[in-house]
Amino acid sequence: MDDRELLTLANEARGRAYAPYSKFPVGAALLCRDGAVFTGVNVENAVNGLSLCAERVALFKAISEGHRDFVKIAVTCRGTHCRPCGACRQVLHEHAPDLEVLMGNPDGAFVRTTVRDLLPDAFSL
Ligand code: THU
Repeated sequence: MDDRELLTLANEARGRAYAPYSKFPVGAALLCRDGAVFTGVNVENAVNGLSLCAERVALFKAISEGHRDFVKIAVTCRGTHCRPCGACRQVLHEHAPDLEVLMGNPDGAFVRTTVRDLLPDAFSL
């Protein structure tokens, strides 16, 4: 699974986002070490604070299916490139601090980074 394929899966997932309030669909695709891919979308709710970001949906799907070893996540939304929010950075850091992050947009442009670079000096117990 190369970068382009993972970004395409994230972008296809983006089409399934449930974002009636923000009207800002986000898609994610998480690549596991064994080659499995879990996608995620943002799922919003009429009650403020109950919405979940695409990245965490993808990660929680993977963990709940028994996957713990992650290589790369692609995230896409409109704009220059999709930057994971602070909450997602913290949650991703817990499970995969060295995860590669491809921050993309629907046109195929992307910026490569890592969770560690996105959240330096992260909190952990
Ligand atoms: N959102 C994500 O799903 N991932 C990000 O990286 C940034 C923000 C969602 C949350 C909310 O549903 C919408 O985008 C607007 O904030």
